[in-house]
Amino acid sequence: MAGSTKHSVPAWLGRRCLILCPPNLKRALAKMAETRQASERKTTRKRMREPERETEAHQYTSISTSPNLYLIAATRQAKASAFRLLKPSSLRAVVSHSTFRSRLFCRHLVTLPSSPWGTKFQVLDKLKEKWSAVKKQPYPAMYSSVVGGIILDPAMMVIPMDDHMVHRGHGVFDTATLMDGYLYELGTHLDRFLRSASKAKIKSPFPREILHNILIQMTAASKCKKGSIRYWLSAGPGNFLLSPAACPEAAFYAVVIDDDFSQCKEGVKVITSTVPMKPSLFATVKNVNYLPNVLSVMEAEEKGAWSAIWVDEQGYVAEGPNVNVAFITKNKELLLPSFDKILSGCTAKRLLALAPQLVEKGLLISVSIVDITVDSGKDSAEMMFVGSCLPILPIVEWDDRPIGDGKVGELTLALSDLLWEDMLGGPERIQVPYYVCLSLSQMDIANHLGTRMQ
Ligand SMILES: Cc1ncc(COP(=O)(O)O)c(C=O)c1O
Repeated sequence: MAGSTKHSVPAWLGRRCLILCPPNLKRALAKMAETRQASERKTTRKRMREPERETEAHQYTSISTSPNLYLIAATRQAKASAFRLLKPSSLRAVVSHSTFRSRLFCRHLVTLPSSPWGTKFQVLDKLKEKWSAVKKQPYPAMYSSVVGGIILDPAMMVIPMDDHMVHRGHGVFDTATLMDGYLYELGTHLDRFLRSASKAKIKSPFPREILHNILIQMTAASKCKKGSIRYWLSAGPGNFLLSPAACPEAAFYAVVIDDDFSQCKEGVKVITSTVPMKPSLFATVKNVNYLPNVLSVMEAEEKGAWSAIWVDEQGYVAEGPNVNVAFITKNKELLLPSFDKILSGCTAKRLLALAPQLVEKGLLISVSIVDITVDSGKDSAEMMFVGSCLPILPIVEWDDRPIGDGKVGELTLALSDLLWEDMLGGPERIQVPYYVCLSLSQMDIANHLGTRMQ
């Protein structure tokens, strides 16, 4: 689609080929032309010997290499060596995105439809296809500072591919639970979010009040009453380098996740993670690099457990991959590990604020933050995960050893009730004004994405 690019497209690519250009397309195209010529000579010779192989079309669907849109990724990898030309008139080559900046190889083949697609409308249609089969839209609203508004169409909920959060992990995030039309502890989460951003050297494009406002308006526009919101601050789009120096502005993204959840009353099993925990510099920042966390949960699932427990280098209990952990000793003390080397959980902090109510009632003896060894943790009377997605999840077995009598503990449930009631009626809630509903149309978004690089 020559109209979409600032670069000239070689004639051999033809008018059917959609390339929304990255800045270095010229080099890419030169490389592609070179490879193609060599490949074409080879393929023609081969085709004369093996004409039937033409039917081996690779199942690639569609692609936009505009840094403004996610790559609509090819689903199966073609032979990396070169193009495989089927019919020169219908087959087009598209560039691998993985080594975009430094060296572009033609690794993927794309069979394009006979009529050109690649106009904004056609890309939109293609993006919409994925969502048309979905019965209930799980993400009823998104905000993107890149498009400057709230998006309701799931097909348009995209992040630029050259955003440094996407390809370098230079981003931070946070959440808040949405319960019966109220956002729970949004202020506390937002404070941690900005602390994380500052440690990651990301300067928010908006002050805190505006971020707060955007999140509330987005939730209102979603009309969703139960689930959660999740939001990110990223170094922003700009290029594929390591340094964010050429990223003009940090980006703020947020999404509403429609989800039904209820108080967790069943106990789960855990294992000790063999995946090393993150060093404190990274573990204390809620950043988007969750590979150790993912691997740790996968390890637990592979071993038939719900999740894993990280233990630090000194042998003290740290946290779970996306939750904090708490214990009740046989003397009825509530113990939590200190937050020096782990994420300072908003729910764990709220638990520490509410639990003294159980001390007043004589159910608990004390509430404290201490170093907890693995042995004393395994020897505790009750154990639980604490996190905003739960808020409390009883743990009944650790490394095949029962915790206490191996049943869900009464004090764990009492603490769970405290937090659940706080979510339903406590002071840390903000009512979402559902009458406010401003969102961008699909075309506004497409136009905005289209003009970003001009
Ligand atoms: C590593 C880690 N620890 C603890 C938590 C619990 O924090 P919160 O209670 O704020 O959800 C999370 C939550 O995302 C987490 O990712």
